[in-house]
Amino acid sequence: MGEGTVRADLLIYNASQVLTLASPGGPKRGTAMGDLGIVPHGAVAVLDEQVLAVGPSNELRGSVQARHSLDAGGQAVLPGFVDPHTHLVWAGDRADEFERRLAGASYMEIMAAGGGIMNTVRRTRASSLEDLVAQTRPRLERMLAHGTTTVEIKTGYGLNTHHELKQLEAIRCLQAEFRGTLVPTFLGAHAIPAEYQGHADEYVDRVVEQMLPAVAGQAQRGSVSRRNRVPGVSIFCDVFCEDGAFTLEQSRRILEAAKALGFGLKIHVDEFKPLGGTRLAVELGAVSADHLVCTPPDEVELLARSGTIAVALPGTPFGLGHREYTPAREIIKAGGAVALATDCNPGTCWCESMQFVIALACRYMSMTLAEAISAATINAAHALGLGDEVGSLEPGKRADLAVLDAPSYTHLGYRFGTNLVRAVIAGGQVVRCPSLPK
Ligand code: NIG
Ligand code: FE
Repeated sequence: MGEGTVRADLLIYNASQVLTLASPGGPKRGTAMGDLGIVPHGAVAVLDEQVLAVGPSNELRGSVQARHSLDAGGQAVLPGFVDPHTHLVWAGDRADEFERRLAGASYMEIMAAGGGIMNTVRRTRASSLEDLVAQTRPRLERMLAHGTTTVEIKTGYGLNTHHELKQLEAIRCLQAEFRGTLVPTFLGAHAIPAEYQGHADEYVDRVVEQMLPAVAGQAQRGSVSRRNRVPGVSIFCDVFCEDGAFTLEQSRRILEAAKALGFGLKIHVDEFKPLGGTRLAVELGAVSADHLVCTPPDEVELLARSGTIAVALPGTPFGLGHREYTPAREIIKAGGAVALATDCNPGTCWCESMQFVIALACRYMSMTLAEAISAATINAAHALGLGDEVGSLEPGKRADLAVLDAPSYTHLGYRFGTNLVRAVIAGGQVVRCPSLPK
């Protein structure tokens, strides 16, 4: 080893550009979302699952002695995508409901008639743990193949203690085999289960008194997640705050109880009707407020000035054939931090690709491509409390990267419907590399 050289496990070199997304002071807010921190003709050195250095390719090739190297072939390199809102663990599908919606039924009408979320709850309750894991695995694999290396996964298709814990156990089993990072969220308040119809408050009692303590107990035993690094938080709690789901008061009750038990907080707010959930998210110090389609302007301002990340899910209005999207421009203009996620679920949005979400955000939310990429990486990491761990390529962060099949990030969003990721590195390991030059 020559003088002045350092050892590494892997050197990814000859990238046309490395998008670092460096953001040492926290999430990217307002105009900072437009800065991708690009290193032209770049390279990334990896040691012990972490980024060791990022710099010009010719410099790192001289200064780094790597056991393995990967020629990026003059293509662009960026952090692995972070998907901070999914409902990935479910059984079956709801293709029949899609046909009913095409024929004119609305999502909430189908739900009120016992379909929708309850349809998937019945299938999920009837599935064994093994079957649930087997049905979820290919979805997770497709996410990884599309460049996503960190995935949040909500429960919410069990809706009783036994089946909610089964969903969490499925996440744990998948984490044991997944090279990236999974973050669990308890969403016991996703719908009022059929057996509590007309007795919603009793179900809320059940969530607060039985389900939350049981889930906290399982999380404390360390059995849910391998690497949830939110200081002091090993799991999130989410509530679907919506007309036809949980009222503002019921949401508050559940989230306050969850907070007291040490859960980080997230809320589904303003997807169809504004109930004041965004204000509640800010008041309770939620890590994120998600959906935000019909959020009133005063709550947009409040959110933008708070530490709560605004998670937009443009795949959902797209999936429902709606025309209203999250007012991302207003949030960014007010200095807020926007993140993007797929919301992958069997009802409104079976989409596994953050690339497609970026394409939608640019078109229907008027985000610039740079803003959308910031939202799909570093800000999405902050929406999981993992801003110091993933979402950017900075020394000490987990070496999660995607090598594009394109010479510039400007091909993302512009091209859609095919996978523009040719290689994925998760925790420093090359997990997919079908056609890279040797
Ligand atoms: O985020 N809105 C509530 N939950 C999901 C949909 C879940 C489902 O329909 O199965 C969402 O869109
Ligand atoms: Fe959702």
